[in-house]
Amino acid sequence: MATNRTFTMIKPDAVADHHIGGILSMIEQGGFRIVELQKVALSAERAGEFYAVHRERPFYHDLVRYMSSGSIVAAVLEKDNAVADFRTLIGATNPANAADGTIRKKYAKSIEANAVHGSDSDENAQIEAEFFFGK
Ligand code: CMP
Repeated sequence: MATNRTFTMIKPDAVADHHIGGILSMIEQGGFRIVELQKVALSAERAGEFYAVHRERPFYHDLVRYMSSGSIVAAVLEKDNAVADFRTLIGATNPANAADGTIRKKYAKSIEANAVHGSDSDENAQIEAEFFFGK
């Protein structure tokens, strides 16, 4: 995937709280084009696979339980400088540190239930997009 694409998930808390529309609106207002979009429930096995890079972290098992607790929305987004610009739009992982005007500042509840995921590199954006949408 080119450097102008990134991958995002709207997480179970934000989906359950009816924030899909509000978050997609902030994404589009931020200049991103939605290339792929899918609402899906992850099994614990699939959630564990997606976050396998965090397998050794103390929060891994809670994260897998949380990410398989309800539906998520997966999307591929397009914009120049997509990965970095999207991380700016979503704000810090911990919403306590998220800047005003960011998606997490507005919608995140905690460091775990932080409303959205955003890829941290071009390489991971491609891997994560393929996890949901194939090549
Ligand atoms: P995300 O950007 O999707 O990447 C890993 C996820 O783990 C993170 O968002 C949070 O939802 C979750 N998480 C829970 N606890 C922590 C923590 N202490 N540090 C980082 N991520 C955490």
